[in-house]
Amino acid sequence: MSTEKSRVARRYDKWSGLYDSVDTFPLIGRAEKRWRLEAIEMLDLKPDDIVLDVGTGTGLILPWIARHLTTGKVIGIDISDKMLAKARGRAEKVGVADRVKLKKEDADSMTFQDSAFDKVIATYTMTTVPEPTRTFQEMVRVMKDDGKMVILDTGKPKKGVARAIHYYMRPFARVFGLTHIDRDIDAIASGVKGIEKVKEKRFYGGMVYSTLWEKTR
Ligand SMILES: C[S@@+](CC[C@H](N)C(=O)[O-])C[C@H]1O[C@@H](n2cnc3c(N)ncnc32)[C@H](O)[C@@H]1O
Repeated sequence: MSTEKSRVARRYDKWSGLYDSVDTFPLIGRAEKRWRLEAIEMLDLKPDDIVLDVGTGTGLILPWIARHLTTGKVIGIDISDKMLAKARGRAEKVGVADRVKLKKEDADSMTFQDSAFDKVIATYTMTTVPEPTRTFQEMVRVMKDDGKMVILDTGKPKKGVARAIHYYMRPFARVFGLTHIDRDIDAIASGVKGIEKVKEKRFYGGMVYSTLWEKTR
């Protein structure tokens, strides 16, 4: 693993105990839950889907995905052992461990076969990975030809008050490991062939976005 990735893993190991507390902050917590649920809705989950959650962290979205599945499974991957341990604890606590699998994997060089997943999701992962185009490329590789991919993350608002708020939020976000909150998902995707954006929702003046991607036919 590169030095940069080891640094990311160590940072999240360190934050694993406190990470979920962000979701209890007034306003942010409620909005976060809504955005995550909307992102999951975009996946249009089927009971037998095999779903990949890239950079699953403490597994916040795993129970919400698992409740759509019967014979299907959701596989959460991360490079931080401690975040994965939290995710495992959550899956057991809420009784979805039978539909959840957790694995230590680098999103940039996953060991999964091509087209292994019906659905792929990444929430707030693209802002943390050192090589986002490579991560995006890998996510496309492991997704089936008729699959769906959803990316929920932060972006840079184009104008207005949101742009100013975004500017001052950067140091705060960095503390939580969101090191690149102004990455442009379209620029990242432009380096990858065979995929197109079919839906986009922007929240808070564009500070947060949810995008749905499908393979081009
Ligand atoms: C901001 S957290 C998001 C966690 C979760 N998806 C959520 O919505 O709360 C980013 C996660 O991505 C993981 N991550 C960063 N780089 C990664 C990589 N190259 N491969 C796998 N996971 C990675 C981090 O360890 C961290 O748990």
